[in-house]
Amino acid sequence: MCGIVGVVGNRNATDILMQGLEKLEYRGYDSAGIFVTNAQHQSKLVKSVGRIEDLRQKLGIDIAGTAGIGHTRWATHGKPSIENAHPQTSTSGRFVLVHNGVIENFKEIQDRYLKNDRFIGQTDTEIAVHLIAKFAEEDEKMPVLDAFKKALDIIEGSYAFALMDAEDPETIYVAKNKSPLLLGLGDGYNMVCSDAMAMIRETSEFMEIHDKELVVLKKNSAMITDYAGNPVTRDSYRAELDLSDIGKGTYPYYMLKEIDEQPSVMRQLIQRYTDADGAVNVSDAIVRAVQEADRIYIIAAGTSYNAGFGAKMMLEALTQTPVELGLASEWGYGMPILSERPLFIFLSQSGETADSRQVLVQVNELGYPSLTVTNVPGSTLSREASYTLLIGAGPEIAVASTKAYTGQIATLAFLAKAVGETDGLQAASDFDLVKELSVVAQSIEASLSEKDKIAKIVQNRLLTTRSAFYIGRKQDYYVSMEAALKLKEISYVQCEGFAAGELKHGTISLIEKGVPVIAVLSDPLLASHTRGNLMEVAARGASTITIAVEAVANPGDDIIVTNVHPWLSAIAMIVPTQLIAYETSLQRGLDVDKPRNLAKAVTVE
Ligand code: F6R
Repeated sequence: MCGIVGVVGNRNATDILMQGLEKLEYRGYDSAGIFVTNAQHQSKLVKSVGRIEDLRQKLGIDIAGTAGIGHTRWATHGKPSIENAHPQTSTSGRFVLVHNGVIENFKEIQDRYLKNDRFIGQTDTEIAVHLIAKFAEEDEKMPVLDAFKKALDIIEGSYAFALMDAEDPETIYVAKNKSPLLLGLGDGYNMVCSDAMAMIRETSEFMEIHDKELVVLKKNSAMITDYAGNPVTRDSYRAELDLSDIGKGTYPYYMLKEIDEQPSVMRQLIQRYTDADGAVNVSDAIVRAVQEADRIYIIAAGTSYNAGFGAKMMLEALTQTPVELGLASEWGYGMPILSERPLFIFLSQSGETADSRQVLVQVNELGYPSLTVTNVPGSTLSREASYTLLIGAGPEIAVASTKAYTGQIATLAFLAKAVGETDGLQAASDFDLVKELSVVAQSIEASLSEKDKIAKIVQNRLLTTRSAFYIGRKQDYYVSMEAALKLKEISYVQCEGFAAGELKHGTISLIEKGVPVIAVLSDPLLASHTRGNLMEVAARGASTITIAVEAVANPGDDIIVTNVHPWLSAIAMIVPTQLIAYETSLQRGLDVDKPRNLAKAVTVE
């Protein structure tokens, strides 16, 4: 969360920073700011509360800056305000800093080194820039780089920093630990940014920065060292990212575009994980890693955690290995007793989630193998795990995750099938994944054509409710968990995904007249039981809604999903619920893509 961008060289810094911030806005959007400067030492610092558009309104006359840094914020320390917005400055105004992350020992630093300083806001970042300034200003001979290093030796926590010295308009100092950051290299200019996608208008040549590395960035050079000053040499890489991927096209919101992209994500995954003969093609090393494991631990957060549940049944059936799910934010503080030969699978759209990474660091220390399933090549979780499988769903920009969820389950299906086939399992050869995923893609398309119907259901049944429930059993319960998360995060309806049979053990007391209870029905053995639970809540006044696959559908069901293979049902069943969430948010007049209090990549603990 929080996005940072910096540029130095022969470009208009304000334009580049503003375009970059617009693309980074998904990472946080409660306040923003830029600092730009030029060779004549003119400089400008502009900050605003709210969106990047609010910042744009305040820009005023351009100073033709050639270097600068910018930031879009998701508040951690201190409320969204001008004082707390970045860039943060030292007392003299000479040092200017943007930061993504959390400085854990900021209070100790303040008490020990900065007792006499006056602070304008409440951010940990302000403490950091004061600390750098203290070291640089109390010893005039100390180069800024050394002052920065000295501060970094003291600072604990996560950070991606971009620092400027107003006396040197041609240099940006960069450092990183745990928060994402990479360089973008151009002809006569260089950039630094939290996300490659925010730089692709300017360059397709990138260079990674690893944790505890420093970069001195100038228009024609990027000098990387470790904190001890040892030079680091690293090749840059070219990534031809598609600009149209990051635009909304004719869509009103990214979320709708991303929901609509799901059939093509399924088809692209078929291309990615099959060979020319149509046989499933997953790296032998990854298949072996699964075969060698006596238990698979899927670690994830939020929607990715729910996707893990969506794939659990299929993974267990085809790998013949128990699958346990772990919430990254819980496991980071202690793992249960592990099996003898665990394999950890990290599911993460962004590949940057701090909670998941905290577990991965421990897994690596323990020497266990790990696999990251992610949408972002080169992301931290991908780099640090033993293996990676890419979802290849294209950038997911709406805060509410949709195509990554379905893409993750489909990717795990290829893994499960590959392992099952290698093990000679009949069920694996019988499972024609290419055909079944094509069926899923068609089923999604059929659900997408029901948008008007879903909009009406929302208008009549969900528009004004304060709470709602999704219920289901087994696989449908897992779908309910994700459906509820979608609804609450973008429409602010308090919603729970519940195991249908569990309601009567307490939670049914919350049912009162008009509360929507939406049943997910895909399992022929369980549908009638869930329908029974629906009758129980209907008898207590609930407004019941049914989403059923054709195979179990009854006359009068509200939304029918065309039949898919039961192992892939979570992919098909989630789509109407994504549309319900989208419509509810839209009809309530909310910002679908940028719900309050949230940000896309959760890079703080
Ligand atoms: C919800 C959502 C979040 C993320 C979670 C994990 O729509 O997007 O719950 O799923 O923050 O993020 P990743 O998958 O990037 O690790």
